[in-house]
Order: sequence, then C-alpha cells, then structure tokens
Amino acid sequence: MRKPFVAGNWKMNLNKANSVALASQLSDIDVGETVDVAICPPSVYLDCVSTALGDGQVRLGAQDVYYQEKGAFTGEISPAMLADVGCRYAILGHSERRHVIGETDELINKKVHAALAGGLIPIVCVGELLEQREAGQTMDVIRAQFTGSLANLDAAKMENVVIAYEPVWAIGTGQVASPEQAEEVHSDLRKLLENSYNQEVAQSVRIQYGGSVKPDNALDLLAQPNIDGALVGGASLKADDFAAIIKAAKV
Ligand code: PGA
Repeated sequence: MRKPFVAGNWKMNLNKANSVALASQLSDIDVGETVDVAICPPSVYLDCVSTALGDGQVRLGAQDVYYQEKGAFTGEISPAMLADVGCRYAILGHSERRHVIGETDELINKKVHAALAGGLIPIVCVGELLEQREAGQTMDVIRAQFTGSLANLDAAKMENVVIAYEPVWAIGTGQVASPEQAEEVHSDLRKLLENSYNQEVAQSVRIQYGGSVKPDNALDLLAQPNIDGALVGGASLKADDFAAIIKAAKV
C-alpha cells in the first residue's frame, strides 16, 4: 500500500514572521502514521521553519535545488545545504520553473539525480498546458516530461521519487481537474512506470495530484485509486485548509 503524501508549496509567499507562525500551527497537527506531510517554504525561510517544526511529523521540503555539489554557482543551493537545514524533500520541475523560469527536462533530470545523491526525495512535477489538453496532447506531453525528467534512473532510485501530476491550467486558477480527469492521467503514469520499470516500481511510486486542491475537493480527488496525495499551493498557506486536506488524505 502506498502511503498518501500531502505537501504544501508555499511558493514566493509569506514573510519570516508569518512563515514561523504557520509552521508552528502546523506542527501541532496530529498527522498520525497513515499519511506523510511536508511543507516547502521559500529557501530563505527553510532554517527558521525547520526550527519551528521541531521534531514533529510535518517534514520540510525545498522548492528547487541545484545539481552541483558546491562552487561558483551564484544564487544556487546544493542538495547538501538543503539537507543541512533539515530538508527531506525537494520539488523539482514545478510548472512555474518550467514555464516562467524556462527549465528544461534535461536540467530537471540533472537536479533529480543530484537530489537523490544528496539524500533528498525529489517531488518531480509533470503537467500539460491548456492548449495541449485541448489539442489532445496531454499524454504525449506527460510521457515526454516523464522520460526526460526521469531519465537514467534505475528501479531502486525510481522507488525514492515522488511524481506530482499538475495540469498547468489548474494551478492557482481555482479550476481543479475533475477526479476522473486526474485519475486518467495518474493511471496512465502508473502504466508508464510499469512499462519503463516493473510492476513493483509502478505499485510503490506515489503520484500526487496538484492544481487548486482545496478542502472541498480533496476528498473526491484522493479517493481515486491512483491518486496518492496532493501538492497544494494556495490552500497550504492557511493552517485550517491544509489541515483539512491532510485529514482528507487519511480517509
Ligand atoms: P495551487 O498550486 O494549489 O495554488 O493551484 C499548486 C502547485 O502549484 O503546486
């Protein structure tokens, strides 16, 4: 059985005081043993959020990582630095990094390998644009991102990766994918895992859904057989909403 995993992506929001306050509120949630939970604050607040979370069940993740270990890479952060401040996860290839910053599958793949080598669990995002969905290209896009971003990973490494399906048209728009639309892509992704690896890998890799997940739609999405959790943006900035989504993942 795959353990559901709910992660909050704070993106470029909040200030230090708000970050610490939100993390402290979340650290009080009784997460339990049946779900994994993480929050991914802006990198500049990782350290203070880590302290605010303490030894609780809510874990820490970064929103990105660079693929080099150290050196002259102005502005970048290495996997070891993230691990050093308590990160367990790193979101990689988020649609905003693909489409706003211009990251390619090739770059994301280097980051995935570096994150794994540095002991981090990558949350690798894939997802189609609205025009790609409307042109019937959804699975072609997902397949290309899967193949490119996750290239050259053996089965043991792949089992440590979390995939997040995030249709770009659903991110931050309030226009959530229907449970059926999401499940269709998730089940195709699992077939892709089985064809690329084997059944064991396909059954163990967790595939989160992301894109306008809210307390009122989380239950229906998470009830789908191939949806193993959520990557939550806007609703992760409110303790009550995020707690409600965690609760939905426990059902
Ligand atoms: P959203 O963002 O929940 O605000 O749509 C999701 C994400 O980008 O991970």
